Amino acid sequence: MGIRCRVWKSKDLSPIQNAWLEYCRTAARSDMRLREDADKTMRQWLAKRFQQRNTVGFVAEVDGVFAGFILGRIDDWESIPPVIEARRIGIVDALYVVENFRKQGVGGLLIERATQAMKDGNAVAIETIYDAWNDASIQTWQRAGFAPWMVHAYRML
Ligand SMILES: CC(C)(COP(=O)(O)OP(=O)(O)OC[C@H]1O[C@@H](n2cnc3c(N)ncnc32)[C@H](O)[C@@H]1OP(=O)(O)O)[C@@H](O)C(=O)NCCC(=O)NCCS
Repeated sequence: MGIRCRVWKSKDLSPIQNAWLEYCRTAARSDMRLREDADKTMRQWLAKRFQQRNTVGFVAEVDGVFAGFILGRIDDWESIPPVIEARRIGIVDALYVVENFRKQGVGGLLIERATQAMKDGNAVAIETIYDAWNDASIQTWQRAGFAPWMVHAYRML
């Protein structure tokens, strides 16, 4: 199996949009509903991110077929209140691997490539958010050296 990881191109926006929305449909909680214009909104948002210079995007292909993506950005982080010196960090907004290519190292490879790009962009750390109940994401991020720090807690009302 030939896994290839490359910087994203405009032709990737459509498969990324479909994969990400599909994930949102399955992962959303009962208090979250996709907007009616989710397709259009996602297309416009991705197109904007594609133009931004601080965006980090990679696509994985297996034997030439779209197998997954990672999307993030490099940003200067300021604390609230602003008492900690601003620092440059990488933020991973999404990591997704197409179901039949999972557990073959694709996700790990995408994280590795994004990590290197963020290091090259002078980020001093990387943060991401993942589902606390999903074994695949817990294991994948842990294997890549990530550990929970601040916890986002949630209570349904
Ligand atoms: C999370 C996700 C990206 C993992 O992708 P992947 O290509 O299967 O990951 P890898 O094959 O590189 O696996 C990385 C490590 O996690 C482990 N792992 C992956 N899936 C696992 C699972 N379901 N259960 C237990 N361990 C798992 C692998 O064994 C591997 O560990 P190893 O290096 O010790 O072998 C993929 O499952 C996915 O796209 N899920 C839906 C979207 C999502 O949850 N994204 C994360 C939040 S943004």
